[in-house]
Amino acid sequence: MMAAPRLTVTGLHAYYGKSHILHGVDLHIGEGEIVALLGRNGVGRSTLAKAILGMVKAEGSVRFRDTELLGKRTFEIAHLGLGYVPENRDIFPTLTVRQNLMLGEKRNRSQATPRWSMDDMFSLFPRLRERENTVAGVLSGGEQQMLTLCRTLMGDPDLVLIDEPTEGLAPMIVAQVGDYLKVLKERGVSVLLIEQKLAIALDISQRVYVMGHGHIVFEGSPVDLKANAQIRKEWLEV
Ligand SMILES: Nc1ncnc2c1ncn2[C@@H]1O[C@H](COP(=O)(O)OP(=O)(O)OP(=O)(O)O)[C@@H](O)[C@H]1O
Ligand SMILES: [Mg+2]
Repeated sequence: MMAAPRLTVTGLHAYYGKSHILHGVDLHIGEGEIVALLGRNGVGRSTLAKAILGMVKAEGSVRFRDTELLGKRTFEIAHLGLGYVPENRDIFPTLTVRQNLMLGEKRNRSQATPRWSMDDMFSLFPRLRERENTVAGVLSGGEQQMLTLCRTLMGDPDLVLIDEPTEGLAPMIVAQVGDYLKVLKERGVSVLLIEQKLAIALDISQRVYVMGHGHIVFEGSPVDLKANAQIRKEWLEV
C-alpha cells in the first residue's frame, strides 16, 4: 500500500501584488521521497517554495500530512517540520560556523532523539569542521552554502525545500551536495529539490516535475524525462 503523501499541493495560485505568478499548481511529495522541480529562470519555482512556506500571497491548498498550511505563518509552518534552504545563502555572518549550527537547533523537540547531531554535519561536509570556529561571513560561497544546508537540518525537518543548492559550486562540492541529499533520504527526510542542473536532479530524485510559466508541464520519473526530448527542448534547454 502506498503511504499518504507528506505534502500535497492542489490548485495553488500565488501573487506578488497584482502579478499572478502561479496558475494552479498540483504537486505531491511522498514520505522519504526526493522530488526535483525543474524549469527555466523566472517560471515560478522559488515562488512555489515561498507559497508553501507562507511567504507570498497564495490561494488553493497546501496540506502537510493532515494540516492545511495556507493561512498559517511561516514560523508555524517551520514548527510543523518544514525546512527551507533559500536561494540566497542564509547565514549569520558575525557568528562562527558552530554558533550558526547551534542557532538552527530546534527548541522543544517533539522527538526524544533528534535525527541529527553536530558531528553528522561535520561528516556530511568535513570542510565545516575545519572552519568550525571561523566567523561565517568570511567563508567562501560554497562553504556558506554547506552551512546553510546543515543549519536547516539542525532544525530536524521532516521535509525540506531546497532552492538551487548547487548554483555556482565547483563540481566536487556539487557531488558533496548530492551525497548530502542521499543521506537525507536514508534518514527519512523528504526533499523538494529545485534545480537547474538536469544531471544531478535526474541522478538523485525519484520523481521530477517541470514547471513552465506558473504551472506544471511535466510529471514523471527521471527515466521518463530522459526519454522525452520534446519536453526537454520546449521547457528546459536554453
Ligand atoms: N518579490 C517579487 N515581487 C514581484 N515579482 C516577483 C518577486 N519575486 C519574483 N517575482 C517574479 O515572479 C516570477 C517568478 O519568479 P521566481 O523567483 O519564482 O522564479 P524561478 O523559477 O525561481 O527562477 P530563477 O531561476 O530566477 O530562480 C518572475 O517573473 C519574477 O520576476
Ligand atoms: Mg528561483
